[in-house]
Amino acid sequence: MNLTAESHRVPLSDGNSIPLLGLGTYADPQKTPKGSCLESVKIAIDTGYRHIDGAFVYYNEHEVGQAIREKIAEGRIKREDIFYCGKLWNTCHPPELVRPTLEKTLKILQLDYVDLYIIELPMAFKPGDAIYPKDENGKFIYHETDLCATWEVECHPYFTQSKLLEFCRQHDIVIVGYSPLGTSRDETWVNVSSPPLLKDPVLNAIGKKYNKTAAQVALRFSIQRGVVVIPKSFNPQRIRENFQIFDFSLTEKEMKEIEALNKNVRYVELLMWRDHPEYPFSDEY
Ligand code: A2P
Repeated sequence: MNLTAESHRVPLSDGNSIPLLGLGTYADPQKTPKGSCLESVKIAIDTGYRHIDGAFVYYNEHEVGQAIREKIAEGRIKREDIFYCGKLWNTCHPPELVRPTLEKTLKILQLDYVDLYIIELPMAFKPGDAIYPKDENGKFIYHETDLCATWEVECHPYFTQSKLLEFCRQHDIVIVGYSPLGTSRDETWVNVSSPPLLKDPVLNAIGKKYNKTAAQVALRFSIQRGVVVIPKSFNPQRIRENFQIFDFSLTEKEMKEIEALNKNVRYVELLMWRDHPEYPFSDEY
């Protein structure tokens, strides 16, 4: 597959296609200044990103929508150039809530459609206004759901998912690998006992050969395997850096070396919800 900055979409079974590289937009709302998401999405679009990954629960979806609309108004892109993925939050799993929740997202974005709408997590919470509903003892209030676990696909050199990837290849399913750089290492939701991915000596040594960073090598590794990546950055230099992965390629030997880094350990374990009956990460994929 010849991947270029202008052309790095992979086909989907329904006739649509998805760009292999997207911008992730989750940042801790408490610590992130208002407007950073807006600016970052605009920089990303100017850089050449055509895939943006967002969610209602990130509290910045309105900024994503505004950035896309501003770039359309400027004439830089058309709506159909952009692939936007939104997400259904845990409190909205009952089937009758799905459509109104999507409509709310479209209203927040002020866009007519999203390109992909996925279940954020396969663990339902009690429907209602509280996004993280808790009882008087501070315990999360869960909800029964019969939705299949369709989501649990972290993917990067320390969690390569070879078995799942092979299954998906055989069935023409495209994987979107979240946390492709090993996350922000925020201790409130990340398993920080797994070492930082971007400090890995092998990724750094390979990067040196190509004059690339460990992040660029990790991203290139994923897209070369056909795994869509959505690295999050709100830093202009790193947004651009993460897009500079179409001007080099890894040899088969290097791909194997990186695959051998697999530790089978997730960064995103979400242990605070491990007592949920649908907690997905105890199963093997
Ligand atoms: P920042 O937004 O300041 O760039 P992931 O996508 O795996 O969840 O990783 C996101 C984290 O990695 C964020 O903390 C982001 O911070 C940081 N990050 C993004 N791009 C790079 C890069 N090229 N080099 C180092 N860190 C990066």
